[in-house]
Amino acid sequence: MTTERLIVVTGLRAGYTKEVEILRGIDIELDDHEVVTIIGPNGAGKSTLIKAIFGLLTPTAGSVLLRGEQVTGKKAHVMVGKGVGYVPQVKNVFETLTVEENLTMGAYLNRANTASQRDRLFEWFPMLAERRTTRAGKLSGGQRQLVAMARALMANPSILLLDEPSAGLSPSNVDEIFNRIREIKDRGVSILMVEQNARRALALSDRGYVLDQGTNAYTGTGRDLLHDPKIGDLYLGGR
Ligand SMILES: Nc1ncnc2c1ncn2[C@@H]1O[C@H](COP(=O)(O)OP(=O)(O)OP(=O)(O)O)[C@@H](O)[C@H]1O
Ligand SMILES: [Mg+2]
Repeated sequence: MTTERLIVVTGLRAGYTKEVEILRGIDIELDDHEVVTIIGPNGAGKSTLIKAIFGLLTPTAGSVLLRGEQVTGKKAHVMVGKGVGYVPQVKNVFETLTVEENLTMGAYLNRANTASQRDRLFEWFPMLAERRTTRAGKLSGGQRQLVAMARALMANPSILLLDEPSAGLSPSNVDEIFNRIREIKDRGVSILMVEQNARRALALSDRGYVLDQGTNAYTGTGRDLLHDPKIGDLYLGGR
């Protein structure tokens, strides 16, 4: 059986200004049914990579292929239309809108099925259903992260890009988020995520990449990276 290569990033270069290049030639791949985690020190360019893939930042060189189709530099709404969802690291909910309104915003490209899709997600995330009329700004960090994920799922993506989904959450919320990520995968969505909680993320990942200073430092299966002493010392805070 051949696995479909969902995303192939080759030699990607990008930055926020002409003078400073942040991504200096990145290569990564995501296959169908995979969870792939990107780790690396602060400022390595992890969020920048996700943004460049999702079309929030225009690469200066290199390419992004989506199921073999050239999508380099395509805008975010185009990527959403092609089945890619994105949950940003910060400011990932509309604070003044209710939970229900946040979810509705996630379906802006496919309004016809909004209500049924929302009901499906409320069934999946009962905690959000109970708070459907609460403003997202009033929710805890863990609840907001669920809103952000559910909003991204409203568009029925086949690929989800998650930037630090467990950042700043309490241990029980971290558990909940990682369980949800597993469930999302089990429902057939492939996931490319960035995580500081590297050990937890690699443990549930098929493969991982270590980025350092805008380039690939290491790659391997989640298990191999977790057990590589060099990676442990350099990127996982020792063993
Ligand atoms: N909007 C921006 N404008 C200019 N420079 C930026 C912007 N966002 C990030 N940078 C710079 O780009 C570099 C990479 O940032 P990025 O956010 O991609 O790192 P990261 O690996 O996600 O780090 P962290 O682990 O802290 O989230 C950093 O030097 C950062 O200061
Ligand atoms: Mg980041």
